Amino acid sequence: MKYDISVTLTTTPKQKPQDESKLGFGKIFTDHMFLMDYNKDKGWYNARIVPFGPLPTHPASTVFHYGVEVFEGMKAYRAVDGSIRMFRPMENVKRLNQSAERLCLPAIDEEGCLDILNKIVELEKDWIPHSEGTSLYIRPFMYGNDPFLGVHAAANAVFAVICSPVGAYYAEGLNPVKIAIESEDVRAVRGGTGYAKCGGNYAASLRAGERAEKNGYTQVLWLDGVERKYIEEVGAMNVMFKIAGKIVTPALLGSVLPGITRKSCIELMRSWGYEVEERQISIDELLKAASDGTLEEAWGTGTAAVVSPIGKLFYEEVEYVLSDNKIGALTQRLYDNLTGIQWGKVEDNYGWSYIVCNG
Ligand code: PLP
Ligand code: COI
Repeated sequence: MKYDISVTLTTTPKQKPQDESKLGFGKIFTDHMFLMDYNKDKGWYNARIVPFGPLPTHPASTVFHYGVEVFEGMKAYRAVDGSIRMFRPMENVKRLNQSAERLCLPAIDEEGCLDILNKIVELEKDWIPHSEGTSLYIRPFMYGNDPFLGVHAAANAVFAVICSPVGAYYAEGLNPVKIAIESEDVRAVRGGTGYAKCGGNYAASLRAGERAEKNGYTQVLWLDGVERKYIEEVGAMNVMFKIAGKIVTPALLGSVLPGITRKSCIELMRSWGYEVEERQISIDELLKAASDGTLEEAWGTGTAAVVSPIGKLFYEEVEYVLSDNKIGALTQRLYDNLTGIQWGKVEDNYGWSYIVCNG
């Protein structure tokens, strides 16, 4: 079911970024945004594309007081044949609804949501940068908008989509990042909201992230919230290890975000003949492999971060250098194939590329 979307164009279009090498991540926004309101009696209504600007939100809204918010992160690419593409967008739509269910926010019709994404991307297509490694980051989000202070499931909500032309998420680009393993704070526990992409998970992660940054590390690698023994994921990416030729990645047990890049990398590696184990990995197993040389490669996967090599791990005052602090061969192969499919350079045997329009 498609939503009936009205379009009000801006009368003051902004200048598009001139120097694409300076885009960074999430600092510039396009001319328009999508908004839609929800009321439990009316359902979703007033779907509209409007000029990008502030959201008029009641000061008592549940988003401010109780963190009733979920979001998604996806990208539109300018492919080598000139077409504009998204990568597995229905996966993001489904995950948005899973996250919404956890926070008692309303579901969006899947086909309708895909149509919304199509329309905003097509309208903003001239904002998609041209240089290699750049894209249009799409940030759909939904929040509770009930104007009273009771703690309750949303009777009113807003769904919005904003878009931002981006380059690399990390300043390091494809150079290896340095990751600190966090032994004090935890991000999520099973039964909590770890598997949902909700703002609160990220709020809870900030303190450890700040600590890591002060010590010269890019992000935090989380351990499980109960025993602080098993590897979970990095701040904005899932994590994978190549240990003695086998690939190991934490199983999805409820506290880790089910990453779409993770899922795609697993499918690619299995098709290349690698054994991929989705299971619990203890910190002891990981550090032993880092010390005895069997930890051959480590990398993170995510929409913003793409495939990001991990060159150094820090845990309890010891720094472990991985793959000579260089990108490993498998990490590079994953990066090349994944971005190759996204940019239409490598044949897509999986049907992952979704064509929005012909540019
Ligand atoms: N884990 C966390 C905490 C994230 O924020 C992200 C980014 O979205 C990921 C993993 C990777 O998920 P995906 O590959 O779907 O972008
Ligand atoms: C993404 O990769 O899309 C993310 O959401 C990561 C981060 C910017 C929160």
